[in-house]
Amino acid sequence: MDFGVFLPIGNNGWMLSATSPQYRPSFELNRDITLAAEKHGFEFVLSMVKLRGFGGKTEFWDYNLESFTLMAGLAAVTSRIQLYASVATLTLHPAMVARMAVTIDDISGGRFGINIVSGWNRSEYAQMGVWPGDEHYASRYDHASEYVQVMKELWRDGVSNFKGQYFQMDDCRLLPRPSHDIPLVCAGASERGMAFCAEHGHYNFMIADTEGDKLRAFNETLSGVAAAAGREIGTYALYTVILADTDEEARAREQHYRDGADLDAIAFMTGQASLDTAGTTAQVISELQGATFMGIGLLVGSPATVAQQIDRLAQIPGTSGMMLTFDDFVKGVERFGSEVMPLLQCRQATAAD
Ligand SMILES: Cc1cc2nc3c(=O)[nH]c(=O)nc-3n(C[C@H](O)[C@H](O)[C@H](O)COP(=O)(O)O)c2cc1C
Repeated sequence: MDFGVFLPIGNNGWMLSATSPQYRPSFELNRDITLAAEKHGFEFVLSMVKLRGFGGKTEFWDYNLESFTLMAGLAAVTSRIQLYASVATLTLHPAMVARMAVTIDDISGGRFGINIVSGWNRSEYAQMGVWPGDEHYASRYDHASEYVQVMKELWRDGVSNFKGQYFQMDDCRLLPRPSHDIPLVCAGASERGMAFCAEHGHYNFMIADTEGDKLRAFNETLSGVAAAAGREIGTYALYTVILADTDEEARAREQHYRDGADLDAIAFMTGQASLDTAGTTAQVISELQGATFMGIGLLVGSPATVAQQIDRLAQIPGTSGMMLTFDDFVKGVERFGSEVMPLLQCRQATAAD
């Protein structure tokens, strides 16, 4: 079981709440988190690409750093941990990204990989005039497949003459080549997205549930899709950890964050119009509060409780790892590393491998 951290490259991490820790992203913050993760033996960190926030009183994700340049900085100050940046394929040409990846591969000594984001959120791209039209919803993984083929040819051969529907290379050159295969990961949730990942990726991320039912069903679908592509790939399950000394204290913190839900930002995220909160019914408010943690499964409790939850989820076949977010990332990663990791049976199995 690998463990990773979903770095807070956007303000306030993954909690749409005015009562969760409030912070803006910075290199310093992400460096401290990554160094703590590296010290405690986490396998990887990943930063997302997000180009437009959700607003609301917390200005949710209105502040976002850029993924590749952040990871280049982190590559220079770390020595062991794997680093993934995310590319929004509509915004950067694959020949440029292939070269950026080779550069970070060099800075990191072979610890760099890419999360392929095919683009599902029109407003992020329309704002800069690069949305190809709504047909992109259906064709985005065909576009992403060509994108990846161009990068792979450049990394493998140092040259590409790829001729596709979306990309045409004309003796396109790339040297130096990377020191090793640059791993690609993705987060396909649709079958087409999973098939793309099964063909090109090392791992498929998914937003997992605390009970593990969705995770189990997802893993089964992914393993079928991967078998059809003649490959085997595992799932990296995304969870949010809220740790405290006792279960009661941790649950009280969860409730406190829920009570402070940023309803306008949530309404934007869920595609509803901005809310007139005063006139909104209690039922709508409580439904919206349900999205405070963006639908990510919560692991809430004392270190012993969280370790038990993880060991149970780790047994679901096809789960290769977990990527974690925290309410307070620096303290959370430290505490998880020193108080949860040593309790994990699934880690002891890894350590003995
Ligand atoms: C862990 C994880 C990371 C993701 N990272 C990004 C990202 O950086 N930027 C983005 O726009 N979408 C991101 N997504 C969304 C996915 O790329 C994908 O579009 C989404 O899961 C829906 O799947 P589909 O494209 O197969 O419909 C992420 C999703 C997950 C679960």
